[in-house]
Amino acid sequence: MEPRAFRFAPEDEVHVPSESVAARLQRDFVIGAFNEEDSQLIGVGGLAWSDGVKTRHKALLYGMYVKAAERGSGVADAIMKRLIDEARGSVEIVTLTVVSTNFRALRFYERWGFRAYGVEERSAKNDDGDYLDETLMALRFVDENRRQDESR
Ligand SMILES: CC(C)(COP(=O)(O)OP(=O)(O)OC[C@H]1O[C@@H](n2cnc3c(N)ncnc32)[C@H](O)[C@@H]1OP(=O)(O)O)[C@@H](O)C(=O)NCCC(=O)NCCS
Repeated sequence: MEPRAFRFAPEDEVHVPSESVAARLQRDFVIGAFNEEDSQLIGVGGLAWSDGVKTRHKALLYGMYVKAAERGSGVADAIMKRLIDEARGSVEIVTLTVVSTNFRALRFYERWGFRAYGVEERSAKNDDGDYLDETLMALRFVDENRRQDESR
């Protein structure tokens, strides 16, 4: 895995009981991409719905990961397309956070229309005492539709 690509450490997840993981999979929209030949999981991504009365127009995109050998192949695009199709019918805004030095992921999200709206400095701290900043990004379907209307 890429320890510097995520704010969460493997130690945060390793003790999570399987029932909690199952509940998360029921609650969220999580998808996997599988290799056609050997059915191995090669990529994942998920959406967590915000269920507060005033925040349910938003979803959080999380856990985007594609195996190194499959990067640049379109697998990440296929996952993102499926997530965005799902979100577009349900919410107005999709947010995400990405480690600010993860330039590949930043570029990938920008290509899908996400825009940076801030940076959380020192969002995470590694074992070696190094801090990670995180860029906050959002994709706004409503603005996107409005822009399309205005250009007609
Ligand atoms: C993030 C991730 C899912 C994207 O999938 P991918 O298959 O690598 O993405 P793509 O190759 O389709 O797109 C990457 C883009 O970054 C560009 N890129 C590659 N290396 C780059 C770099 N060092 N700096 C800037 N841009 C870079 C590519 O050219 C491409 O842009 P383009 O489509 O305009 O040419 C994948 O890289 C991954 O799993 N990374 C490790 C885990 C991770 O960082 N997850 C995100 C956590 S928020």
